[in-house]
Amino acid sequence: MTAPDRLAEPAASEEERAGQDHFDRIIAEDSRIEPRDWMPAAYRKTLTRQVSQHAHSEIIGMQPEANWITRAPSLKRKSILMAKVQDEAGHGLYLYSAAETLGTPRHELNQQLLEGRAKYSSIFNYPARTWADMGAIGWLVDGAAICNQVPLCRASYGPYGRAMVRICKEESFHQRQGWEILYELSHGTPEQKQMAQDAVNRFYGPALQMFGPPDGDSPHSQQSMAWNIKRFSNDELRQRFVDMMVPQAEALGLTLPDPDLKWNEERGHYDYGALDWNEFKTVLSGAGPCNVQRMQRRRQAHAEGAWVREAAVAYAAKMAERAAEQTEQTERTDRQLIGA
Ligand SMILES: [Fe+2]
Ligand SMILES: [Fe+2]
Repeated sequence: MTAPDRLAEPAASEEERAGQDHFDRIIAEDSRIEPRDWMPAAYRKTLTRQVSQHAHSEIIGMQPEANWITRAPSLKRKSILMAKVQDEAGHGLYLYSAAETLGTPRHELNQQLLEGRAKYSSIFNYPARTWADMGAIGWLVDGAAICNQVPLCRASYGPYGRAMVRICKEESFHQRQGWEILYELSHGTPEQKQMAQDAVNRFYGPALQMFGPPDGDSPHSQQSMAWNIKRFSNDELRQRFVDMMVPQAEALGLTLPDPDLKWNEERGHYDYGALDWNEFKTVLSGAGPCNVQRMQRRRQAHAEGAWVREAAVAYAAKMAERAAEQTEQTERTDRQLIGA
C-alpha cells in the first residue's frame, strides 16, 4: 500500500486504523485477504467489479458456442462442446459466489448486467459463423483466458484466487479441445483448412484485445498490481500470449493474421503489429456485431428462468417452515417430559 492510497482513504476510527494496518501487512507479505477481514472500500469496489464482470463474461460467453451444439459434426464433438459450455456456466457460478463474499448479492450483480450497467468481455460480441470458430474460440479465446487467469490464482483476495485454480484447470482442457478441432480441420480437405484459417483470421485480433488496452491507457492497472490482484500488466500478458501462440500456429499449419509478426532477437520476444483499438472501443461501447443479440438472449433466458427462481424460493420457505415446526415439536415434547 502506498502513501497516496492512505491519503485517499483516511482511516477514521481506531478499528479502521487497525484494519488498514492488518490489510497493509497481508499485502506486504503477499498473503491473502479473506471476506471477514477489513479492506479498503476501493479494494472491495475494484474486486466486486472485476470478479462480477468476469462472471458475466463466463455466462455471456456460453452463447456463441451453445449456438453450435445442435450443429456439431458428430456425437463426440457434440458431447465435448456441451461439456465445455457447461463448464463456462460453472465458472460463472463460482465467480458470482466469490463476488458475493464482497457484500453485493448475486441478484444485484445480475441486475447490473441485465440493465447494461456492467460490462463483460468484448470478445463474446463476435459471431461464431462456422464450425471452425469452435476451434478458434477454444484455442485463441480460452488460450488468452488462461494467460490472463493463471496469475489470478495468486490474487490477494482468497475466494477469487481459489475459484481461479479450478477454472484454469478447465480452461486448459478447453484450449486443447479448440486446438484439436483446428488441427483436424487444417489436416483435412483444402476447404476445411481454409475454414480453419478464416476462423483464426477473425478471432486472433479480438483475442489479443482481451488483455485490455495498452498499459499507457489502463489507469487502474497499477493500483491493482499494488494490491496484488493483478501480477502482470496488460502488455506483458499480451506479449506472453503472442510468444506462446506463434509456435502453436506453426504446429497447426495455420498462419496468424499479422504481417508485422516477427522474432526480435534483442528482446527475446515476437514483435507484433498495432491492434485496432477503435474497434475495441466500439465493441465495448455496445456497437459490436452481436452486443444487442447477446443481451436480448440473456434477458430472455433470465425471464424464462423466473419460475425456477420462484420455485427455489418457495421450496426454501417450505423447508424453513418445516424445520421450525419440527423444532417446536421437539421443544414441546421436551417440556412435556420435563413436566411429567
Ligand atoms: Fe471459462
Ligand atoms: Fe473456457
